[in-house]
Amino acid sequence: MPENRCMQGIWSNPWLFILAASGSAVGLGNIWKFPYMVGENGGGAFLFVYFLCLFLVGLPVLIAEVALGRSVRSNPIDTINDLHERRIVTKGWVLVPYLAGLAGFLILSFYSVIAGWALAFFERSLAGVFSSVTKDETQAIFSALIGSPKEMLLWHSVFVLIVILVVGQSVTRGLAMLVKMLLPALILMLLGLAVYASIVGDFDKTLTFLFSWNWSHITTDVVLAAVGHAFFSLSIGMGGMFAYAAYMSKHMSIVRACTIVVGVDTLVAILAGLVVLPLVFSLNIDLDTGPSLTFVSLPVAFGRLPGGQGVGSVFFLLLILAALTSAITMLELFVAWLHERFYVSRLKAAFILGLGVWLLGLMSLLSLNEWKEIHFFGFTIFDFLDKFTSLILLPIVALLLSILVALRIPRSMLQNELITREPTHFKWWYNVLKFCSIPIMVVITVAGWIGV
Ligand code: PHE
Repeated sequence: MPENRCMQGIWSNPWLFILAASGSAVGLGNIWKFPYMVGENGGGAFLFVYFLCLFLVGLPVLIAEVALGRSVRSNPIDTINDLHERRIVTKGWVLVPYLAGLAGFLILSFYSVIAGWALAFFERSLAGVFSSVTKDETQAIFSALIGSPKEMLLWHSVFVLIVILVVGQSVTRGLAMLVKMLLPALILMLLGLAVYASIVGDFDKTLTFLFSWNWSHITTDVVLAAVGHAFFSLSIGMGGMFAYAAYMSKHMSIVRACTIVVGVDTLVAILAGLVVLPLVFSLNIDLDTGPSLTFVSLPVAFGRLPGGQGVGSVFFLLLILAALTSAITMLELFVAWLHERFYVSRLKAAFILGLGVWLLGLMSLLSLNEWKEIHFFGFTIFDFLDKFTSLILLPIVALLLSILVALRIPRSMLQNELITREPTHFKWWYNVLKFCSIPIMVVITVAGWIGV
């Protein structure tokens, strides 16, 4: 096996893995993306399929990624190379970790544009721009931001620079400490806002919308959207969880740790839905609004709240930090690899990759205004990258990783991970992964190819 270069870094506190993994999972996907995905895809139908996906695909794949990561305690690229040298897998498999790194790279390019929106809204909130705003005014504020490539470029650049500087240091432990404060603060804030939204917004309509569904609402598009979002939200299929698992204490139950990560991620998403949707209903905002939904509805609530300027500012700050703890994972795989393999300093590696992310992000950013008419397979560059990564790249990598763990690598490699330590869990996990997750991912990947 690859040398255990991480051994000295094994985290003494078993919660550190859970914190770092939750930090990667909880991000813009939960607060910005989840509410509008639910809105666009019929509410309860989406939520029902999403929950199924979490249990039948998301959790088993996350466990597979973490079990492999902890058993080899190395980075994904060296791991697969080593498996190839030992003739366990063929040469083609060596591509898989690069695809995972590519997924992180592509996602970060548009993710940083959205994080830039959060930065812009943080600045506006601090300046008191949202006091007593109406829905039409927040819509105008949002449209003005989208229509200004210069301003978006500024915030996109600021966010990419912060990511570069943070990834450039080796800060996994510090990151976990940040998440330790960030997550409770974010959950408390969302809880408070959900109570407020339930009073001023249309809570009954939200509950009906979220928790009732009709079988006819479950269309192929809804299923694809739900599976894609499960991969995106849990940060699986891009090697980040694999990397964190290398630092996981031997004594921690993998199944328990992964279940907690999935639980926290889902809790934050549902809370975000319970904040945004009651406002959306009471303000008569179109559910199909798409990516602007959270940014248009929330400031109206902040504008009406006593002390809303402060509450709004803290909220956007937490959102930015949550985005940052997710974004860091996206670059980590390639940065660690360049550093370990080519002895490039972490900061230099982060700068090289960050520059690429920044340039690609520029295209996403322009596709929201000046390049609106340029289409790839019928999508703007922004939408194409979003769909391509969630519906194709992440599922393909996750599928290949699952096949590797379930069918290719010798069981003895996982012996200490799940088989001996958690025998009952192992049986369940193994069967669900093999007979449920893998077939579902095959279908989704094929459908994704046909659809996109
Ligand atoms: N899970 C993160 C979120 O919900 C996004 C992400 C995707 C992070 C893929 C890493 C890898 O915001």
